[in-house]
Amino acid sequence: MTPNQLSKEEKLKYIFKAIQKAYPDRRLVFNDGSPEMPVMIIGEAPGKDEEVQGKPFVGRGGRLLNATLEKLGWKRSDFYVTNVVKYRPADELGGNRTPTPEEIEKFRPALEKEIDIVDPKLIVVLGRISMTGLGIEGSMSMNHGRVINKKIGGTDRKILVVYHPAAILRNMNWEPIFREDLAKIRKLV
Ligand code: URA
Repeated sequence: MTPNQLSKEEKLKYIFKAIQKAYPDRRLVFNDGSPEMPVMIIGEAPGKDEEVQGKPFVGRGGRLLNATLEKLGWKRSDFYVTNVVKYRPADELGGNRTPTPEEIEKFRPALEKEIDIVDPKLIVVLGRISMTGLGIEGSMSMNHGRVINKKIGGTDRKILVVYHPAAILRNMNWEPIFREDLAKIRKLV
């Protein structure tokens, strides 16, 4: 079977195997949902809950994301969900920390391949780390709710920038903005 005859799922398995080979001692978290879906949601990196369950966005932030998507009439399984960094960046005390620019850079080739395979009609980046991880400049306050066209791995991609759910959990007054920004998905696919 030539690589072109493989399904998206099978191609993604190769990517995951390559990441496992590169990080044999890490508990990796790869993806959730179906790569056949037109919208790819990209977060920052797994946290503790994600590490335990082996799936992206299953903790508090994930529950807020799911609830907001449901309010807008979608199910979480209507999306393909992944992160820029595929392991939990931990600090010396074992807590979560923000991925370093080096970690983001190291995962960039695999993320580009992942995007290439899924070939989504729209990418939704959640938060500053995933936004900058895809090479988008500017602040979240400037870019959120905007659609940015960007070449990724040689292909033009449409990217919607949305606040990270963890930022909303810190300030629930922003929940309507989060919802309004996510609602834009409907007109974009
Ligand atoms: N935050 C993220 O960015 N990704 C997850 O999977 C969980 C929390």
